[in-house]
Amino acid sequence: MGGYKEYKIGVIMFLVVFAASMFMTIGLGGVYLAKIPATQLALSKQVHYGSSAWSIKDPLMKGLNQPMVTKRGKSFNDPVGVGKKIFIREGCWHCHTLLPEQSMDWEYFGAPPLAGDFVGESPTVIGSDRKAPDLMHIGSRMPSVAWHLQHHKDPRSVQNKSIMQSFDFLDKKELKALAKYMVSLK
Ligand code: HEC
Repeated sequence: MGGYKEYKIGVIMFLVVFAASMFMTIGLGGVYLAKIPATQLALSKQVHYGSSAWSIKDPLMKGLNQPMVTKRGKSFNDPVGVGKKIFIREGCWHCHTLLPEQSMDWEYFGAPPLAGDFVGESPTVIGSDRKAPDLMHIGSRMPSVAWHLQHHKDPRSVQNKSIMQSFDFLDKKELKALAKYMVSLK
């Protein structure tokens, strides 16, 4: 039977291994993440934040890509952040991914995803199941806010066989924010 001393050594060893693995995951992982440069796509999504990546001051990245931004002591709505929130709230991600996956995808939906595309984003809305076109680079394919407004209000007025539901119940401001979010996805 092991005595009290062995028990104590066991607990200490466990704590040392635990602390080391936490340090490697959070500490070294954070340093590594902070070194990934933001791509143009990431920058366009976080207009007000510049190229800041993960930072120890904001470990959960709560300050990035939020509907409300504070700049020089003033708070205001960021249409891209508001649009992203609506995208999440309305479940657009039930049908759309924001992550082109295979080479065929890259021909249709634009460039392959890069690590830097997700810099500063929390949450990412990559989706898990796709029933509709990938939207990661929709702003490059479809840069017109007016087109997105019309499509969200009445998808079948621009794509006559579309199975996408109409989002005409959203108010004008929300529709506009959603369109701006779509166009920001370059
Ligand atoms: C029930 C599934 C479904 C949901 C939910 C859905 N969509 Fe769609 N969406 C589609 C389908 C199918 C298409 C392709 C036909 C079309 O263009 O309407 C599409 C097309 C699009 C396109 C054009 C893509 C392209 O490459 O031309 C955009 C932009 C878009 N959806 C945005 C949205 C947004 C924003 C939401 C949430 C407010 C949303 N969708 C919710 C099914 C869906």
